[in-house]
Amino acid sequence: MEKKLDEIKLLLKIVSALFSLVIVLFVFVIIAQFAPIHSSGHLSSMSDVSSWKPKSITTDLPEGKSGKMIKYGYTLITQTSRLIGPGSGSITMRYSGNNLNCNNCHLDAGRKIGSGSFVGITNRFPQFRSRENKIGTLAERINGCMERSMNGKALPEKSNEMKAMIAYMKWLSESVPKDVEKLYKGYIEIKIPEEKANPVRGEKLYKSNCQVCHMEKGRGLQSPDTSSTSYIYPPLAGKDTYNDGAGMNRILTAAKFIKGNMPLGATFDAPRVTDEEAYHIAAYINSLDRPAKPNKEADFPDKKLKPVSTPYGPWADDFSAEQHKYGPFQPIIEFYKKEYDITKTK
Ligand code: HEC
Ligand code: HEC
Repeated sequence: MEKKLDEIKLLLKIVSALFSLVIVLFVFVIIAQFAPIHSSGHLSSMSDVSSWKPKSITTDLPEGKSGKMIKYGYTLITQTSRLIGPGSGSITMRYSGNNLNCNNCHLDAGRKIGSGSFVGITNRFPQFRSRENKIGTLAERINGCMERSMNGKALPEKSNEMKAMIAYMKWLSESVPKDVEKLYKGYIEIKIPEEKANPVRGEKLYKSNCQVCHMEKGRGLQSPDTSSTSYIYPPLAGKDTYNDGAGMNRILTAAKFIKGNMPLGATFDAPRVTDEEAYHIAAYINSLDRPAKPNKEADFPDKKLKPVSTPYGPWADDFSAEQHKYGPFQPIIEFYKKEYDITKTK
């Protein structure tokens, strides 16, 4: 009898110990839910960096006026055409010239690694800009995309729209740990192939990897809703896309974007095409027609700083226009290294 009682006591102890353990774990999970690592502390390992999550518009928005401004900035970035483009139906609010949205290139509203993310961006501006050869502000950088990627005109810097986009970017950039900022910045690198990029090879790859969504000759797939001018799959070429002065019109920039993001679902750590494939596909896309940006000769007042795959002149070298567009790029990169000690990657 005595022995039986001891056994029951022991069993009770085990059960209660297990129960407390479950409670402790439960509390821990709850705390982790409400306190994501948004502190600016140094992260101790790579897995901390990759498990870090940017703020979410549905759960992390502050109350009041500042929250409203951030939300408006987010909406402008995800519905650019409808609010400040051809889809607005208003002449005074028509700043972007095509029916792309910012988040067609800056994916997940600028929250995706490897797509020119906005996470951490306000910590890097103002910065030196080689295209203008001066210190540029974030507003000026946004207007660079307005005039080129969006084939439109600059938004006034004092406009509510510009202020809202910057408020959104600032909010995304608050308390971002340094290692995280580095991971989110820009595009993933590719090993630039030695050979010239081949648009014919690119076209074949485009047909098997991209055409289902972006359609023949990159024309995109418009929304079936006729009251809307937007696209389900955005155009890569033709009248309604980025112009020839845009960063995406450089083969090396487009190849890096493609590798980290396309076909849709590709990520920086799980690309779906090889560096070489991305390179040839980029050549095909950028061999197609697109709007012309006026006055491109004025870009990069210091021609030495012009990216090697900028397809329009003048350049500070004697390589042909054809080679600046399609490569091979290594000889040009070596020239700038040797002649001016400038390292070029795009
Ligand atoms: C067609 C694709 C495309 C679209 C659409 C686009 N951008 Fe960009 N954006 C780029 C590319 C490419 C770069 C980087 C260019 C480079 O590396 O020189 C860039 C860079 C930027 C940067 C600087 C990023 C950094 O890390 O320094 C900002 C800010 C930006 N874009 C804002 C916007 C906004 C706001 C919109 C919408 C109004 C927009 N972009 C639309 C392609 C696009
Ligand atoms: C499953 C459909 C799908 C496939 C396949 C696909 N894309 Fe996209 N692509 C998209 C969508 C959707 C976007 C816009 C992303 C967003 O808004 O979140 C996009 C955006 C783009 C953009 C930037 C926006 C623009 O219009 O210029 C480029 C460039 C691009 N894709 C190239 C490619 C290439 C190259 C391939 C093949 C390697 C490819 N895509 C395959 C759906 C697709």
